Amino acid sequence: MKQIIPIASGKGGVGKTTTVVNLGISLARKGKTVILIDLDLGESNLHTALGIKNIKPGLGHFINKRESSFESLVQETGIDKLYLITGDSLFPGAANLPYFQKKKIIKSIKDLTADYILLDIGSGSSYNVVDFFLISPESLIVTIPETTALLNAYSFIKNSLYRLVYLALPPRSEERVFFNNFCTQSIEKGENSLTQLIKTLEGFDKDLGERIHKSMMHFNPHIIFNMSLSDDEKLITDKLINITRKNLDKKINTAAQIPWVNEMRRSSIVMKPYLQLYQDSIYEESINGLSDYIMKNFKFTFS
Ligand SMILES: Nc1ncnc2c1ncn2[C@@H]1O[C@H](COP(=O)(O)OP(=O)(O)O)[C@@H](O)[C@H]1O
Ligand SMILES: [Mg+2]
Repeated sequence: MKQIIPIASGKGGVGKTTTVVNLGISLARKGKTVILIDLDLGESNLHTALGIKNIKPGLGHFINKRESSFESLVQETGIDKLYLITGDSLFPGAANLPYFQKKKIIKSIKDLTADYILLDIGSGSSYNVVDFFLISPESLIVTIPETTALLNAYSFIKNSLYRLVYLALPPRSEERVFFNNFCTQSIEKGENSLTQLIKTLEGFDKDLGERIHKSMMHFNPHIIFNMSLSDDEKLITDKLINITRKNLDKKINTAAQIPWVNEMRRSSIVMKPYLQLYQDSIYEESINGLSDYIMKNFKFTFS
């Protein structure tokens, strides 16, 4: 039994990789076996954040068929119980992954053995990014209390919901044609267009409507507000939660509010994770709070 947790953000530079690494350490210190996977194709740098030389086979080798066993990509990090699969930086250009390759990677991730598998997913809302995010119903979105990052996080949630609707439609069906036309026509027809779309699809077929509702219920992203400077910023971040509930009919919860810490710069210069470099910090306290939150609230397991 394992838990797979995708971590996305919409916008880059908000602290996804930093959070993945330190969260991995926190879970490992609590006795869990953790594998971190660098799925940020095109911008793989998870190994750097861990201070590991990128010389062993990673995802790029698997994608380019230089390595056939996915499991053999798992390498030690030097931290007890924490393992890593590096990205594609030794074979750049894998960012535009063909569909069958993506399916193969997703299946291989599900076959790994660990307590927790954390996926550091790329920025943006391309299908590759969203499809990796949808591997598991319980996931994390990192954002920061700045308007651009919050809007990108909102768009990411919206695009994921649209993708879920699309995937619920039968391949090569009339409904998929309708979906594509609807999306190209409604660039922002008012913000309730997702609800409108689902209502129309329900009109086509009641069973289909039920399938869509079920898959949307199954989608439970939790938000991490990183680089927080004060408690007041909760008011800004609450806006994301409110607008998601209002426009997308989706209730999301806050998994953690993580403080801005000046010493993070040193952690990235010396390429050593913050939790290894500093003990008993407010940063460590909030990352430990995040790992507790996950252990308590994330229930979905893969066999
Ligand atoms: N809580 C934090 N406080 C201060 N700096 C942070 C914090 N989290 C991340 N950073 C810094 O922000 C930058 C971007 O972080 P990174 O994890 O690479 O983002 P992403 O993976 O989302 O692109 C890095 O320089 C990192 O050291
Ligand atoms: Mg990153």
